[in-house]
Amino acid sequence: MGGFSRSCRGAVVLFAVLVISTVFVAVSGQGAVVPAPVAPPPLALVTPPVQAPVALAPVALPPVAPLAPILAPAPAPAYIFPSCDGVEVVYTLIATAEIFPNASTPAKQPYSFEGSVTLTNKGYSTLDMWGVGMTFQHNEIMVSADGLSLEDGRAFPVNVSDGAVLSPSPPQALRNSIETAGDATKISKVFNIIGTEFGEPLRPMPVTLNITSKGYNCTKPKFYGNTTMHTCCVEPSQNITLTSDDIFLPPIPGDITITYDVLQAYTSNYRAMVTISNDSPVGRLDNWNLQWTWQESEFIYTMQGARPKVADTQVCVGGLAGKYYTGGMDVNNAMSCSVSPVISDLPLEKTNDTTIGNIKYCCRNGTIMPAVIDPSKSKSAFTMNVYKLPPNVDDALHLVPPAGFKIGNGGDATSLYTCGAPRLIAPSLFPDPYLDYSTNSMKTWQVSCNVTEGPRKPPPKCCVSFSSYHNDSIVPCPTCACGCKANPQPTCSANTSAMLLPYSALTLAPENRTAQLLAWASILHKPVPNPLPCPDNCGVSINWHIVSDYSNGWSARMSLFGWDNVTHPEWFAVVEMPKALPGFEKAYTFNATKIPPTNTSFVVQGLTGYNNYLLGSNLVKTGVSVLQSVISFTKKLTPGIQVKGRDGFPTKVWFNGEECAMPDSFPTSGALRMASPTVLGVFVLLVCTLFLDPFELL
Ligand SMILES: *[C@@H]1O[C@H](CO)[C@@H](O)[C@H](O)[C@H]1NC(C)=O
Ligand SMILES: *[C@@H]1O[C@H](CO)[C@@H](O)[C@H](O)[C@H]1NC(C)=O
Ligand SMILES: *[C@@H]1O[C@H](CO)[C@@H](O)[C@H](O)[C@H]1NC(C)=O
Ligand SMILES: *[C@@H]1O[C@H](CO)[C@@H](O)[C@H](O)[C@H]1NC(C)=O
Ligand SMILES: *[C@@H]1O[C@H](CO)[C@@H](O)[C@H](O)[C@H]1NC(C)=O
Ligand SMILES: *[C@@H]1O[C@H](CO)[C@@H](O)[C@H](O)[C@H]1NC(C)=O
Ligand SMILES: *[C@@H]1O[C@H](CO)[C@@H](O)[C@H](O)[C@H]1NC(C)=O
Ligand SMILES: *[C@@H]1O[C@H](CO)[C@@H](O)[C@H](O)[C@H]1NC(C)=O
Ligand SMILES: *[C@@H]1O[C@H](CO)[C@@H](O)[C@H](O)[C@H]1NC(C)=O
Ligand SMILES: *[C@@H]1O[C@H](CO)[C@@H](O)[C@H](O)[C@H]1NC(C)=O
Ligand SMILES: *[C@@H]1O[C@H](CO)[C@@H](O)[C@H](O)[C@H]1NC(C)=O
Ligand SMILES: *[C@@H]1O[C@H](CO)[C@@H](O)[C@H](O)[C@H]1NC(C)=O
Repeated sequence: MGGFSRSCRGAVVLFAVLVISTVFVAVSGQGAVVPAPVAPPPLALVTPPVQAPVALAPVALPPVAPLAPILAPAPAPAYIFPSCDGVEVVYTLIATAEIFPNASTPAKQPYSFEGSVTLTNKGYSTLDMWGVGMTFQHNEIMVSADGLSLEDGRAFPVNVSDGAVLSPSPPQALRNSIETAGDATKISKVFNIIGTEFGEPLRPMPVTLNITSKGYNCTKPKFYGNTTMHTCCVEPSQNITLTSDDIFLPPIPGDITITYDVLQAYTSNYRAMVTISNDSPVGRLDNWNLQWTWQESEFIYTMQGARPKVADTQVCVGGLAGKYYTGGMDVNNAMSCSVSPVISDLPLEKTNDTTIGNIKYCCRNGTIMPAVIDPSKSKSAFTMNVYKLPPNVDDALHLVPPAGFKIGNGGDATSLYTCGAPRLIAPSLFPDPYLDYSTNSMKTWQVSCNVTEGPRKPPPKCCVSFSSYHNDSIVPCPTCACGCKANPQPTCSANTSAMLLPYSALTLAPENRTAQLLAWASILHKPVPNPLPCPDNCGVSINWHIVSDYSNGWSARMSLFGWDNVTHPEWFAVVEMPKALPGFEKAYTFNATKIPPTNTSFVVQGLTGYNNYLLGSNLVKTGVSVLQSVISFTKKLTPGIQVKGRDGFPTKVWFNGEECAMPDSFPTSGALRMASPTVLGVFVLLVCTLFLDPFELL
């Protein structure tokens, strides 16, 4: 092998078939949502009641199920809690009862329970957004919660054995005593929760209790008696806030923000515009899907600029809508009656269709790019007519936005993004294009969505390998970087580190590299694990190869391989290299640009009509699908940069909006150096995107 890289030069690019469009990206850090640690469960009943508990006489509630003896009609004695400068949260168990079925073992016996949660703002600041967090211990199923909904959008009944965060929908502020002269109705809120638990006949209490508002620090909850739990959440600052009843919250940033504008309101229906904006320089949505849950059984009668996936009209026809909307309106024609509709974009052809398209920013087949690449493609918008149901049909200003927003890439709304609750913000202004006059929306809510982090983060779809001219081994993508197959053939180990690769293996599909890996391990005298480590299973892999390192500059070659049968049109990648970025000069056969605000990253995209489509190898007749370009850097602005150390390698890479898995280590110096293999040397010349530049050859 080896030695024919020059034959690539000027080779016809067999595969750069494709089309149109110019793009470009921008940068920056992600808003990571780091959950605060959950308070440890209280182990003991700590403070005894200060006042004598008031009469404990059981309250005679009707049994929940016919067979149900009421087991714990817990009274709520008036405890005196310690003083709290902030928000006080009290959970009181009201009742439990045995319910059907009669289980064979006590641990499986279901019981209903009812509890109340009281929040009281005893602090200086208004609590503008809040959620109450609880974790349980008896496999609780929550059945209802008094005007609150689960912050993650799941609908009742819901398995909350992993914990639950409940927030009011629409959001309500908990105002402070100072601005309301101590108006208890405005500083306090009580809500009841009803649910089912298993195996605890008397006292199914939560183990943790908190509020999720930013900056508030809740103490470990304490028991008062057996059925009351108390916590005090200290506010972040004791600045006095004065707000009006109809407060507008400040918009908050997010990787994706969704605005829900009510444009016109009538008594029984309203017209709304929904705008999805990609505010992240690294994010991308393809074939977006938006889902929400209506809070008052509203339904969508018409929609322009997008469409729901399912009409579900039987819900309207058979329900209250069918009874109420008789006469002029036929609910059979409703666009969607689903309580949690899934909405997706329209294809390009509908852009100018005056019946279903014709909305600014509509109809791009669900692709949303970062604004740095193309501001006109960084939003999607659609409008809809929403009909309300009794008893909410008499007041045009009774407007409740849907909750539980979810947005994802393709298919069902996925877990790629995690969205917060809608926040009432100052109404959007719509400037008249010709006159110095703006109309505003009646009400505007904003939803902020960030890339999901933590355990619910979906696995990556791309991975990165590192190599350098000074080391003959490639530091590979990690084992199972993009997930493991359920029953891999041949059997492989998901826990063993990936083996070093020879350059010649780079152009083989990851599952076809076994012979090369074994041969290379034997040359390097490295042990061979049995079974072999699993492949990375990534559809796209990216190799970053340091090509040269001189006193005044250095260069690297970035190669993208598509391994599956997916085509990535108008691909882009964002490369984060904080140390090296000041010296970034240019890419030779890609379009690469620094992303201005952060100065840690640059965005790379293919050149229109040349290499802006990355094909999957299954889609090409022979060889592999690879796109590559050399990228050059100067050292003038980065004196002392350790190119061959870490500084010459990216810290993070995103491909088409998703973060790629990174290798665990870097190529070291002084390793065995074989007879100058080159990556290009083994390419099956499907694609040769190399242009000539001084650093081209290894
Ligand atoms: C490179 O990307 C920038 C930013 O998107 C764009 O303005 C420019 O036209 C692109 N150049 C080429 C040659 O595609
Ligand atoms: C998204 O991240 C931003 C910070 O980057 C944060 O202010 C915002 O609250 C986050 N949104 C959600 C829904 O967590
Ligand atoms: C449930 O079953 C047990 C025995 O299987 C019986 O003793 C008990 O009375 C039953 N409980 C009710 C409420 O039917
Ligand atoms: C509050 O409780 C919820 C649910 O148990 C938990 O997920 C969250 O991390 C807690 N938040 C804080 C700040 O402790
Ligand atoms: C609720 O979820 C937990 C953990 O996921 C599971 O163990 C439990 O069986 C579930 N309960 C029900 C009733 O599905
Ligand atoms: C929360 O309060 C506890 C106890 O007062 C304190 O130890 C802890 O540092 C506080 N945490 C934060 C994030 O302020
Ligand atoms: C709490 O429960 C224990 C054990 O069941 C009981 O002895 C005690 O009297 C109860 N305390 C109160 C205040 O009800
Ligand atoms: C509270 O007020 C002080 C002084 O006016 C200000 O510096 C600080 O930023 C305020 N804190 C918050 C959280 O608004
Ligand atoms: C829609 O109309 C605009 C302006 O007339 C035109 O430039 C565009 O190509 C049309 N789009 C489609 C998909 O027909
Ligand atoms: C539109 O998106 C779908 C799904 O992602 C894709 O299969 C189709 O090829 C796209 N159509 C166009 C014209 O890009
Ligand atoms: C792996 O090797 C087999 C047998 O040579 C070949 O049929 C297959 O196409 C290869 N896979 C890829 C993705 O190149
Ligand atoms: C991609 O290839 C796999 C098998 O290699 C096949 O099952 C799948 O249907 C193909 N998908 C498409 C979109 O062609």
